[in-house]
Amino acid sequence: MADAAPGQLIGAASALQDSRPGLRFTLPDGRPGIAVRFRGQVYAYVNACAHVPVELDLVEGDVFDISGQYLVCAMHGAYYDPQTGRCLGGPCPGRRLTPLTVIERDGQVWLAA
Ligand code: FES
Repeated sequence: MADAAPGQLIGAASALQDSRPGLRFTLPDGRPGIAVRFRGQVYAYVNACAHVPVELDLVEGDVFDISGQYLVCAMHGAYYDPQTGRCLGGPCPGRRLTPLTVIERDGQVWLAA
């Protein structure tokens, strides 16, 4: 018997490459989400800036800065630690993106139920 799905499918794990554009998805409550891979690990957040709750990406899924070390908001340049969602600079230092629990299994990335 196959294992039950661990949650909501976000997409293929292979679609997430380190510090490359992420996958957008919609949470069950309708909020936008974004999943990225950083240093081999997948992270996901509600796609809403901690400064003003607009989506971080102007170009779909493109949330890493040019160095590939930070998530950056396209609106006013807040930048975040990809591993914690903590704002490290810009207009909202110390605030955080809302983290989501993801599961990478059998070549797929899931939003945990
Ligand atoms: S809305 Fe994101 S930095 Fe202002």
